[in-house]
Amino acid sequence: MRIILLGPPGAGKGTQAQILEKNHNVWQVSTGDLLRMHRTEGTPLGLEAAEYMDRGALVPDSLIIAMVESALRGVDSFILDGFPRTVPQAEALDVLLERMNYPLDAVILLQVPREVLFERLTARWVNPRTNRSYNTISMPPKVAGIDDEDGSKLVQRSDDQPETVAKRLDVFDEQTAPLIEYYRKVGKLIEINAYQDVDTITAEILSGIERASGVKSS
Ligand code: AP5
Repeated sequence: MRIILLGPPGAGKGTQAQILEKNHNVWQVSTGDLLRMHRTEGTPLGLEAAEYMDRGALVPDSLIIAMVESALRGVDSFILDGFPRTVPQAEALDVLLERMNYPLDAVILLQVPREVLFERLTARWVNPRTNRSYNTISMPPKVAGIDDEDGSKLVQRSDDQPETVAKRLDVFDEQTAPLIEYYRKVGKLIEINAYQDVDTITAEILSGIERASGVKSS
């Protein structure tokens, strides 16, 4: 399986990528998670990226492309979550996959109304260790503020404050939405209504991938 999960902030890319990774033996490459890891470790990339992330802007393409090239080295089955996010990133990915001789199966577009995205993000709490996401409205943990699986204390992301969320949604419309047409033109785009329950969305993603690749996912 080689797919891209495309969609605005809060569409459920991370939630769905984690489910697919757990159940289908495929590796999730989340550029947001990789950047947050660099920030936690205080690397030069993390320090530079922080300045962009905290104001809801995109990190420069050159930094992101180099990071993804290194993350995909030796990997033949993956879910890209949060990458590509600009046309230059998509073009760089085309070159990389052609060099690796790994064609994409599909680009899954998760669609959710903007007001729902805003509500989802401002109510999100995450486990900083595993990146598992909860939502105080739609998916609360069993015990408030505590991860169900490993008992870690949940935190809110610094870019989930209302002003930054609004900015991130605008950035998606301006810089990432052109990718919808980019992938539609090459016949790779599968559009999913992601304003449904999590399991229904997963099932629709899997049947979309099966149709696109002609292979039944186990
Ligand atoms: P990143 O971490 O990638 O953030 P994002 O794309 O803005 O996406 P999110 O993680 O916010 O949302 P999601 O779609 O994964 O939703 P989730 O599953 O968590 O990027 C952060 C920053 O890093 C960027 O702003 C940028 O600065 C930088 N960056 C990253 N990649 C970059 C790139 N390629 N180029 C340049 N810069 C880059 O769900 C959200 C909430 O909704 C959760 O609470 C969840 O529990 C809940 N939820 C999920 N599904 C459902 C459902 N079906 N029903 C109800 N609630 C649901």
